[in-house]
Amino acid sequence: KKNIWIDCDPGHDDALAILVALANPEKLNVLGISTIGGNQRLEKVTQNARNILQFIHAKTPLVAGQETPLVKTLTIAPEAHGDSGMDGPFFEDGEYPVLSQNAILYMYETLMKTEGKTTLVGLGPLTNLALLLKTFPEVKDKIECISIMGGGLDRGNYNSLAEFNIFVDPEAAHIVFHSGINIIMSGLDVTEKAAITLGEIQSLKNKGRVSQLVYELLSFYNESGKQFGFVDSPLHDLCAIAYLLAPDMFCGENYYVDVITDNNASRGMTFADKRLVTQSKTNSFVLLDVKRKEFVELLLKSLEELDNA
Ligand code: BDR
Ligand code: CA
Repeated sequence: KKNIWIDCDPGHDDALAILVALANPEKLNVLGISTIGGNQRLEKVTQNARNILQFIHAKTPLVAGQETPLVKTLTIAPEAHGDSGMDGPFFEDGEYPVLSQNAILYMYETLMKTEGKTTLVGLGPLTNLALLLKTFPEVKDKIECISIMGGGLDRGNYNSLAEFNIFVDPEAAHIVFHSGINIIMSGLDVTEKAAITLGEIQSLKNKGRVSQLVYELLSFYNESGKQFGFVDSPLHDLCAIAYLLAPDMFCGENYYVDVITDNNASRGMTFADKRLVTQSKTNSFVLLDVKRKEFVELLLKSLEELDNA
């Protein structure tokens, strides 16, 4: 059983990642969840996390992290995720508890007191994780690896070069990629292949409480994806969790991945050093392909577990 910590900015795909992680307690021990300003401002994404956790009667500690990136101002993504950051279903805003502690300190204390190592999962801009690694470098001994959704080796989505999560806080991403900890990178190379069809989304309708919630979430998300040219809906963040549950579903390559922090058109771009002479020094396992059907099956099965809980 793996200990994991999820840092996120829900976000439709973040919500799915949280649900699937918590649906598989025999494989993943979710120590806590922290939020980060990203898809929407911190207050909104934290409320979204509360609503999701409340909906499934979770007991997982939730703590709010940084409002803004390390250096620049926050960029949000209402065009993809709506004004709430997780539009679609109606929630009575839940009273799920948010811890009052500082998120970075709480994460540090949790990792230090947990037996064995923990895998960090980064589903939004990497600001909180970068601060953790910089403030408490000794915590690195307690980290197994960092599974992130971010970047892309041959494409962007915020613009032609940069993926949203990395674009929002490239300085933080730079710290994380250079931390010496192994990264599992679910970038756009794999996440755009990890897409759910409209037919599969519709199969969730009226299937159960949680399936219905996800049907409502993904109906909005599928519709908003159309303006970016998507017919099927890429479940980006779910890849970072699905890999931990079923690594054989994916294939990838080891590379040294770096991040451009310069203030020019390539700010926030990730790239891999593919020169043969440098191949022995790598920092990331970059996921490149996924067995799409099995991936969607994992989602549907997990939702069924939650429906029946
Ligand atoms: C990433 O950006 C966010 O909009 C999604 O939640 C995902 O983490 C995809 O580029
Ligand atoms: Ca996200």
